[in-house]
Amino acid sequence: MSALLEFDGVCFSYGRKSDEAGFVCDLNFSIDKGEYVAIIGGNGAGKTTTSKLINGLLKPSEGRVTVDGLTTTDHAVSKLAKKVGMLFQDPDRQICKNTVREELAFGLEIRGLAADEIKSRVDEVVSDFGFAPGASPFTLSRGERQMLALASVVICDPEILVLDEPTTGLDYRECMHIMERTRVLNEKGTTVIMICHDMEVVLDFAERIIVMAQGRIIADGDSAGIFRDEDVMRKASVLPPMMIDLSLRLSERADLKDRFGGFSSVDELLEILAKSTSARARS
Ligand SMILES: Nc1ncnc2c1ncn2[C@@H]1O[C@H](COP(=O)(O)OP(=O)(O)O)[C@@H](O)[C@H]1O
Ligand SMILES: [Mg+2]
Repeated sequence: MSALLEFDGVCFSYGRKSDEAGFVCDLNFSIDKGEYVAIIGGNGAGKTTTSKLINGLLKPSEGRVTVDGLTTTDHAVSKLAKKVGMLFQDPDRQICKNTVREELAFGLEIRGLAADEIKSRVDEVVSDFGFAPGASPFTLSRGERQMLALASVVICDPEILVLDEPTTGLDYRECMHIMERTRVLNEKGTTVIMICHDMEVVLDFAERIIVMAQGRIIADGDSAGIFRDEDVMRKASVLPPMMIDLSLRLSERADLKDRFGGFSSVDELLEILAKSTSARARS
């Protein structure tokens, strides 16, 4: 079976090839149905450009992007949009209607769904997300507007959900609200690709990380392994999550390396400490 999403030798440049304009190149990866993948890297690394190549907003100048068997160069964005839902940083770029209900119905109307189907889907999402359907989106808080923007994407039932810095400008509670939602969707089978600059969030939610620097992929693998690769972290100009950083620092000490060299969360650290305390109590 082929992957749900495939990048095969993909390059894209905003300017003429010889220019020094922003570009991505040599992108090769595939993502299977049901994965939760984060794309990380410094500013200008090419993450947003890559996300726009996924849904066909940008077309590769070399190579091929295939979404569920459809090559993006051969299919209209409107067709690809049925498969790929995008959530951006700023909900106000996505919200355009006067009530929550109209906003939720909008994407389904464009897709030409029957009125009763639209009504039942909107009712379901309203109760699922706990929205007040008659409220005006612009009376909502930033976090609630981002949740509405997410719901408007989710209601169209995309196979792949692409999130480009979805929690920027949100407080911790709002951020977790959005992220927990993406986890539930992923558990139900939606493939999630998230661009995120908060490495704690990345470690908590993504199983796999693709690291970009200067328009290229410099690493691709399981999250904890990627964060432990100090060379990759430096090249991508990102700092690993705090618990992994602590574990790495403790493992620089020969006497602590064996015990503390491998944890990546507070829970794992507590487990190690509990074990060593009980071992000491026994001796
Ligand atoms: N619309 C655009 N026109 C020209 N250059 C762009 C445009 N958007 C992004 N770039 C350039 O492309 C490169 C990658 O940008 P981007 O994909 O936005 O990176 P990231 O999302 O990782 O910060 C950068 O050098 C950026 O300046
Ligand atoms: Mg970006």
